[in-house]
Amino acid sequence: MDEIPLMGEAWRRAARRVGRRDARLLLEHVCGCAHADLIAHPERAMSGDQASRFAGLVERRAAGEPLAYLVGSAWFCGLEFAVGPAVLIPRPETELIVDLAVERARAMDGPGRPRIVDLGAGSGVVAVLLARRCPRAEVTATDVSAAALDVARANAARHGVAVRFLEGDWCAPLGDDRFDLIVSNPPYVADGDPHLALDGLPFEPRGALSDGVAGGDGLGCIRRVVAAAAWHLEAEGWLLLEHGYDQALEVRKLLGQAGFREVASWRDEAGIERVSGGRRPAMPAGMDAQAR
Ligand SMILES: C[S@@+](CC[C@H](N)C(=O)[O-])C[C@H]1O[C@@H](n2cnc3c(N)ncnc32)[C@H](O)[C@@H]1O
Repeated sequence: MDEIPLMGEAWRRAARRVGRRDARLLLEHVCGCAHADLIAHPERAMSGDQASRFAGLVERRAAGEPLAYLVGSAWFCGLEFAVGPAVLIPRPETELIVDLAVERARAMDGPGRPRIVDLGAGSGVVAVLLARRCPRAEVTATDVSAAALDVARANAARHGVAVRFLEGDWCAPLGDDRFDLIVSNPPYVADGDPHLALDGLPFEPRGALSDGVAGGDGLGCIRRVVAAAAWHLEAEGWLLLEHGYDQALEVRKLLGQAGFREVASWRDEAGIERVSGGRRPAMPAGMDAQAR
């Protein structure tokens, strides 16, 4: 085996391939040390095992694998979450739907606990944040992927919140349950979109990114969620959906056609309309069965 480099030297060499920051984060992950240790003690030795693990991770990063999968975690809304190849890496723009949902859940001041469901939980970031920020709420989360739900359950345990996780297709596992608030960040990239080949996306689960409808507009999952959600909402309940940068107008149309009112879109930090939603109207008694 080649001579094992000291930590500072290993960092310098790797930085030429994957950049200083990623090289540092991989080194910290492998050696279990902090940034300050690396700066203060670049002369520290690495074990042979650490050196070969580090070299392997640098190779994978250089081949485009996202850093979050290599270190096994990602930060979202100031909390660290476990992630792996079964789940989408949480994106900063998803913080918007969390904020909008929290605002609505906190405004629900009836005698019972507000009931919230997150459709397409993935790593569980949205459901866990809602449970943490709205401790009065009862939070449910669904996903079609059993492997994703395992990650989401681990994240709920890590952050000490109770979330009911159900496996199945969108609202199917909800039975006859109704909610005050439904949130979803469904897959919305159109099948065949060239972005799916860029920026580490090939390493993320395709079923978390794209609706898989060949030649479609990426709105296949959103159409299904809008169609199913009304039946699972209490009167006046909110549906909030995250969507693509150019889909707000279409999503507002879908919500309007499905009978939602107060339909609106909200912009993320980049000024992009990123979340759209509306409220289920109060229906006269007897109309519910037809809505299903
Ligand atoms: C864009 S990811 C969102 C993950 C997480 N909520 C977040 O915001 O980071 C979409 C999620 O929807 C799930 N999904 C895809 N099709 C589904 C379906 N038919 N029913 C339920 N969940 C589905 C995927 O497994 C994936 O976890």
